[in-house]
Amino acid sequence: MIIYSGKDYNDISRKAANIMSAQIIMKPRAVLGLATGSTPVGMYRQLIEWYRKGDLDFSQITTVNLDEYKGLSGENEQSYRYFMNNNLFDHVNIDKSRTFVPNGLEKDSRKACSDYNQIIHTVGGIDMQLLGIGGNGHIGFNEPGEAFETETHCVDLTESTIQANSRFFNNLDEVPKQAYTMGIKNIMSAKKILLIASGESKAEALYRSLYGPVTPNVPASILQLHPDVTVVADEGALKVIREKELI
Ligand code: GLP
Repeated sequence: MIIYSGKDYNDISRKAANIMSAQIIMKPRAVLGLATGSTPVGMYRQLIEWYRKGDLDFSQITTVNLDEYKGLSGENEQSYRYFMNNNLFDHVNIDKSRTFVPNGLEKDSRKACSDYNQIIHTVGGIDMQLLGIGGNGHIGFNEPGEAFETETHCVDLTESTIQANSRFFNNLDEVPKQAYTMGIKNIMSAKKILLIASGESKAEALYRSLYGPVTPNVPASILQLHPDVTVVADEGALKVIREKELI
């Protein structure tokens, strides 16, 4: 595992974009596993800027997103499909038919999940998986629990996640209570993982994920067992790790 520190959000966004760009340049047909949330927005902005300058070409790229709220259509502004179109896909030369997000409108959870697993297998697996991290250590929507869920599954979101994500909705009641998410096996099967974290609200989760015991209570802790993880975190997110003089 390599940890890169950045002084602030802009700094880590640029560093993460550099790493993702390298992947795109080295393998123009790469399959990128993408993430939503506020953390990757700056990285996506930087990628768009480099695309506009002519430095990046997305025409052969395939993407698979980590997760989607159950019950939201892609036109809903709070859906992760909408987020991806708005924050990246609409601004670069990607072929939208090769951008995949779980189908939030599929009511049959088993079908939604098995369809999505099939897509991940059909595209040939993920070359680089981008991850944010939840304040409770969740990745995608793999919430803390008794066991690591393997493949795409339907989750009941925890109260703390519903609360955290309510800032994007008009009120708490509008926040979906369930989501479809890639499982830990899907994530761990990616050839490379790029985890980005910003701000003190992530400091404890980041410390427990990178240096604590590997346990389903802290889903991101499984990443300690992945052979190729790059973490890009700002000083806020590294606060606890710095205090403990681990880096
Ligand atoms: C959501 C997403 C995660 C993301 C997390 C953190 O729960 N499902 O993929 O990592 O939020 O979001 P943020 O980057 O906004 O802190």
